[in-house]
Amino acid sequence: MDKYYTIITYGCQMNVHESEKIAGILRARGYIESNDETKSDIIVFNTCCIRENAENHAYGNIGALKKLKKNKKDLIIAVGGCMTQQADAADKLRKKFPFVDIVFGTHNLDRFGDLLDKKLSGKKAVVDIWPQEGSIVEEDYSYRTSYPNAWVNIMYGCNNFCSYCIVPYVRGRERSRQPGAILSEVNALLDKGYKEITLLGQNVNSYGYDTNGICTFPQLLSKICERKEKFRLRFMTSNPKDFGEELIRVIAENPQICNLVHLPVQAGSDRILKLMNRKYTASEYLQKLQLLRKYVPDCQVTTDIMVGFPTETEEDFADTLSLVKNAGFFTAFTFVYSPRIGTKAAQMEGQISEEVKKERIMRLVEVVNAQTREKSLSYRGKSVEILCEDYDEKKKLYLGRDEYGRMGYFQSENDCIGQFVKIMVSDSSGVSLMGELEK
Ligand code: 5AD
Ligand code: SF4
Repeated sequence: MDKYYTIITYGCQMNVHESEKIAGILRARGYIESNDETKSDIIVFNTCCIRENAENHAYGNIGALKKLKKNKKDLIIAVGGCMTQQADAADKLRKKFPFVDIVFGTHNLDRFGDLLDKKLSGKKAVVDIWPQEGSIVEEDYSYRTSYPNAWVNIMYGCNNFCSYCIVPYVRGRERSRQPGAILSEVNALLDKGYKEITLLGQNVNSYGYDTNGICTFPQLLSKICERKEKFRLRFMTSNPKDFGEELIRVIAENPQICNLVHLPVQAGSDRILKLMNRKYTASEYLQKLQLLRKYVPDCQVTTDIMVGFPTETEEDFADTLSLVKNAGFFTAFTFVYSPRIGTKAAQMEGQISEEVKKERIMRLVEVVNAQTREKSLSYRGKSVEILCEDYDEKKKLYLGRDEYGRMGYFQSENDCIGQFVKIMVSDSSGVSLMGELEK
């Protein structure tokens, strides 16, 4: 009889890729993907705890499965990801949701299959969280679902300890993969026909720092770009403190590297940046943008910004707004600060009220949206290259992204998924582009 799995993923692209790894493990054991939880034999939650709402969301959805589990005793529910890796989280989870069968962490993801086998062989519940980082598994065992893009981890963990951030506690210290293993994985993916590679790490700019710099991040990019066929190379996330001229040069020199950099600024006030332990000032950040634009004139920058960090005054917030106005971001992801237990910022005096946070995020979003709209409008009447990634059955349109990640829709008589096409943009009033396929 067929066996089905459902994976529910929260959080960032790193987690999306880790869910592909979990899927790989399940498929190797004969499970088939299903989006219908009621049909599934195993439901896996791949959680995130970077912000409070992501965590609450996961807790709510796990809780909602109690009834399903009651009616289907042999259903297996597994919870993994960042949330379980927090101090005492596994105990908390088991107490709150005794019907959960497997709890696993981020440091032992590759052992998920063994834990499942244990559970299937009759164990009541399997809780296996590793407090310390395990060794890196270089082999690619993921079941990829994002053709023509493929995610490739280049490093795990983070050493930065930004004072608001839980990541260094739940993902451990920085561990870089071997450059040879990354190159083999990327080459195999390009050989298979993938057209876009996105390199993943919490702070890709410090790639190789922990392996005596045998290969730095700019060197890794250059090596990947030795493949001369047409493909797109992306990477995320860059920390501004390590974003330097060598990397900028490599971006400028290699046409495969998208001229889009995600460079989270977080705040525009130097006082707040210092409290956040970000190790750069607002003007140093803007200088880096200037340098980037000097070498790569058509480069666009996206960012993350947070409001309501402890002690943030109206003046500090005004600095953030003014930085946003000056930086010319292509788009920005905006967040309300939420205290994460165990981080320095959670202990700080001067936590900001929800009311003030709400009011500030609304003002910030207004400024960001106005800028994003302006960038959108500048597309009208332009010819844009799209990497086609899917077909929308409802809209009867093909869709894909341009170099800057903007979604474009168009009609085509032929299946062009996985191909680079050019469209003439006729409408760009919303967040996405509409265009006509150019012959
Ligand atoms: N509260 C709100 N936002 C946070 N981020 C990280 N930690 C927190 C937190 N405690 C945001 C940062 C980061 C993005 C991935 O999530 O802006 O760049
Ligand atoms: Fe968190 Fe800072 Fe590391 Fe990013 S660089 S993961 S914000 S600690």
